[in-house]
Amino acid sequence: MVEVTRVYHFSAAHRLANPALPVERNVALYGDCHRPHGHNYYLEVTVAGRPDPVTGMAVDLARLDDAVNGSVVAEVDHRALEEVPALRGVITTGESLARAVWRILVPALPAESLRRVAVVETAKNRFEYEGGEG
Ligand code: NI
Repeated sequence: MVEVTRVYHFSAAHRLANPALPVERNVALYGDCHRPHGHNYYLEVTVAGRPDPVTGMAVDLARLDDAVNGSVVAEVDHRALEEVPALRGVITTGESLARAVWRILVPALPAESLRRVAVVETAKNRFEYEGGEG
């Protein structure tokens, strides 16, 4: 099997808060990130496939693009992440975004093909999820 990683980009606003907690606790937990702000996110999606002997290709990149652009990028680009229906109830940390994107992409991709989702929030923060618990 060969893994292929494709990089996507979107810009979005967000604000870290757990609505179940009082304001003071959210401020203490999230600091500056409790205030509305934005990121230029990169989303790295890794899929695996066996190279086709005729085409030499392991992954249909057009299909991957359709899935990621249609079900994720179009939903979140230039929006406030807390207002995205598919992210309802998600505290929009990089960790939780990576898991949410995985959950959204699995049914949109060929069975068992998704290997990794990485949300690159800033030059210093990268969040990876490979499915399963944790
Ligand atoms: Ni942030």
